[in-house]
Amino acid sequence: MKMILLGPPGAGKGTHGKIIAGRYNIPIISTGDMIREAIKKGTEIGKVAKDIINKGQLLSDEIVIEMVKERVGYDDCKEGFILDGFPRTVGQAEALSQMNEGKPDIVLELYSTDGEIIERLSGRRVCPDCGQTYHVVDNKPNVEGRCDSCNAELIIRDDDTEETIKDRLKVYHLQTEPLTEYYKKQGILRSVHVAGEMNDVAAEIAKTLEG
Ligand code: AP5
Repeated sequence: MKMILLGPPGAGKGTHGKIIAGRYNIPIISTGDMIREAIKKGTEIGKVAKDIINKGQLLSDEIVIEMVKERVGYDDCKEGFILDGFPRTVGQAEALSQMNEGKPDIVLELYSTDGEIIERLSGRRVCPDCGQTYHVVDNKPNVEGRCDSCNAELIIRDDDTEETIKDRLKVYHLQTEPLTEYYKKQGILRSVHVAGEMNDVAAEIAKTLEG
């Protein structure tokens, strides 16, 4: 199965994407994680990306398209994959449809209100080592401030400030939201409202994917 996860920042693409990937035994490819890794390693892309991410803007289509094109060609993608955070523009969607391995079978939209998003992202905590995400109220780690998997000290992402979250939402509505209509016209869009308890949302997603 080749799946795209579409949705505003903080809708739960990473959280639910990992659950779905585990169920179908396919990799999850997050362009956000790839870009953060490039920043951490200080690569040429990383140097360009740091300021852009912290302003809540998008990297150029050319850069992310190349990243994804290479990644979906890996052996572990032969049985399918989940794309988290790509495509984010119509240009990226068109490039994906032209990649041999890229044409999606299903697009799962996770939608939420801007108010819910701001609350979610303000409480998000992330493990800097394994990338696992938590929430101070809705998805707490077993030990406060520590990752359940690797015990690292949890951090707040640089782009999770209230001002940057609002900028990311503006960019989402302007540049990415039109993709819901784009994929609806192709008949491959399914949507789930992600407000509510983690387990309830996960169950609703499972039902939507099986239906
Ligand atoms: P990226 O890392 O993709 O960020 P994003 O799309 O803004 O999404 P997030 O990772 O913030 O949120 P999420 O939807 O994964 O939510 P999560 O599961 O963590 O991109 C970052 C930046 O990289 C972009 O701004 C851009 O600059 C650049 N970039 C990336 N891709 C690009 C592209 N294709 N083109 C150009 N530039 C690109 O959940 C959020 C929180 O909610 C967690 O704390 C979670 O625990 C909590 N939570 C509470 N209740 C629930 C529930 N019921 N379900 C799920 N989560 C819940």
